[in-house]
Amino acid sequence: MCMNDMKIYFAPLEGVTGYIFRNAFSGIYGHVDKYFAPFISPCEKYAMTPRERKDIDPENNIGINLVPQILTCRSDCFIDAAKELHAMGYKEINLNLGCPSGTVCAKGKGAGFLPETSALKAFLDDIYSYAATADIKISVKTRLGFYNPDEFYDLLEIFNSYPLSELIVHPRIRSDYYKGDIRKEYFAYALENSRNPLVYNGNIYSVKDYDALSDSFGTILDPVMLGRGLISDPSLADKLKGFESRVSEDHVT
Ligand SMILES: Cc1cc2nc3c(=O)[nH]c(=O)nc-3n(C[C@H](O)[C@H](O)[C@H](O)COP(=O)(O)O)c2cc1C
Repeated sequence: MCMNDMKIYFAPLEGVTGYIFRNAFSGIYGHVDKYFAPFISPCEKYAMTPRERKDIDPENNIGINLVPQILTCRSDCFIDAAKELHAMGYKEINLNLGCPSGTVCAKGKGAGFLPETSALKAFLDDIYSYAATADIKISVKTRLGFYNPDEFYDLLEIFNSYPLSELIVHPRIRSDYYKGDIRKEYFAYALENSRNPLVYNGNIYSVKDYDALSDSFGTILDPVMLGRGLISDPSLADKLKGFESRVSEDHVT
């Protein structure tokens, strides 16, 4: 099923979807409603490195609806970075609670923050108090849990107590990395129980995959976030929306 008005988000892919890629992609393809930038990792001394700043500099992202992403487990670092991003003109910021990398998780960030539910609540209290006083929305991109997918029941209850602008769920746990079957039944639970707007992410490589997933959930998935599917078929957003690919023969070498 194709729908012109469905929303499609480009997943952040560190090392792949930087500003040069985004400009090239949006110049040729399009039909992506939001691009999520690969994470910036603020620390006490600075909100972002010069390289990270260059990637999200609005001058380098003209005509691209970009959402910067922050990876941290410290609310003071998040808020300092959010203030800088807000001053740059950004109105939505995404929190990374999904990164499975060993070095990231060992520092309690990304998916490594998920088992620390008390600290996570304190962190969310702080950042959503900040968001309420600033003109800024905060969305969350998460996995189901760190050790066990059943962690998701408690996590969803936590997310439900905050005004997330969107909850993007990649239905895997940390040890799944990006491989194997997705754990559909947990996303079905989110569809029933999330109080915040939900976004599905994971393993959509074709219109057929999208249709099969929508059928299995008994609902049209909208919005969806696509990562590797858009890399392997850059026309996938066009196809899902029912448009002809914008690529003409001269772009195909
Ligand atoms: C090379 C690579 C880099 C990634 N970088 C990020 C990142 O910076 N932030 C993030 O939230 N997720 C990151 N992800 C996860 C993707 O955004 C996405 O959740 C994952 O690829 C599953 O979606 P897909 O099956 O549509 O690709 C990365 C994944 C890969 C493979």
